[in-house]
Amino acid sequence: MSLSDNFGRQFHYVRLSITDVCNFSCNYCLPDGYQCDGDRNFLNLDEIRRVVRAFAELGVEKIRVTGGEPTLRKDLPQIIEQCANTPGIRKVALTTNGHKMARHLTNWQSAGLDAINVSVDSLNPHVFHQITGHNSLTDILDAVDQAQRMDFDSIKLNAVRMKGINGHELDSYIDWLKDKDICLRFIELMETGDNRDFFRKHHSSGEEIVASLLKQGWQRIERSISAGPAEEYRHPDWQGRVGVIMPYSKDFCASCNRLRMSSRGDLHLCLFTESGLSVRHLMQSDADLPLLKNRLQELLVEKHASHYLPEHQVGSTRHLASIGG
Ligand code: GTP
Ligand code: 5AD
Ligand code: SF4
Repeated sequence: MSLSDNFGRQFHYVRLSITDVCNFSCNYCLPDGYQCDGDRNFLNLDEIRRVVRAFAELGVEKIRVTGGEPTLRKDLPQIIEQCANTPGIRKVALTTNGHKMARHLTNWQSAGLDAINVSVDSLNPHVFHQITGHNSLTDILDAVDQAQRMDFDSIKLNAVRMKGINGHELDSYIDWLKDKDICLRFIELMETGDNRDFFRKHHSSGEEIVASLLKQGWQRIERSISAGPAEEYRHPDWQGRVGVIMPYSKDFCASCNRLRMSSRGDLHLCLFTESGLSVRHLMQSDADLPLLKNRLQELLVEKHASHYLPEHQVGSTRHLASIGG
């Protein structure tokens, strides 16, 4: 059995949000800090076990655990372990702001974590504080180094690029990457319901980064079908790779390979455009597994060809913390 949509796209990758709470308040994401939207009744371990099993039986092989900030959940190691122990799941990944990484990396790896993506939106401590409201840049970079010594399948660093804030930091990021076995991805700022004015002021096209990389001798890597959202580049003198995520570029959605499950049990077929389709009622008993699988398959026919950016930039997504990016 497999999950595919009306446009022939196959879905082997699920982004599983386990909380929408975040301890950071990044200016592009949660400009007013985290506001509790309702109850904190997030999917529990049993519900997560069932939904991951349903996805795995439908051909999903990779689970990325996200949030909000997923490391705020005390049962994260058990969640990782459950995902890793689900037959069919070959890769368990985590996206985090890195704040709790140093203390917990070993536990997460023992639980079965294969890959980790860390958001580091500036390499300058003052700018980092201006963006995130935190002073933890040095600790996070140390934890990234620690992760590199631990034999993860992959480590990626995400930096949302913002004109007038960190837009001038390309060269310092590239210098930093020289001897690191890491993929550094620059993400184009996306417009959400909560950041419209901010977006207008600070958005700049990822094409500028691409032009600058090409000028400095970076070469585009041929994209495999299973590749993530980033266009990737390598340089003969660099150990690390650079990726650029450009959601506003033409055909970005043609290679979409992912589905999203929110922390309250709503299936999101896209980062934008719809408000989530609840399937939580089908996660309450092992006996409902066949129904859950059928429902997930049925809902996929509603997936659109693209998120239609930039025509409908905002969609119903207030901020990416709400559905895990
Ligand atoms: P890999 O599994 O390593 O490919 O990671 P990823 O890039 O899918 O995950 P990550 O959590 O690091 O997300 C990086 C950025 O890409 C975030 O800003 C996401 O919101 C964005 N992104 C990921 N998938 C999509 C997508 O389907 N559509 C859009 N518009 N942006 C996406
Ligand atoms: N535009 C682009 N990227 C964003 N992220 C969160 N909000 C936005 C936005 N509005 C990124 C985070 C993290 C990833 C999961 O999503 O910085 O790297
Ligand atoms: Fe920042 Fe991610 Fe938290 Fe949003 S969810 S405030 S981008 S750390």
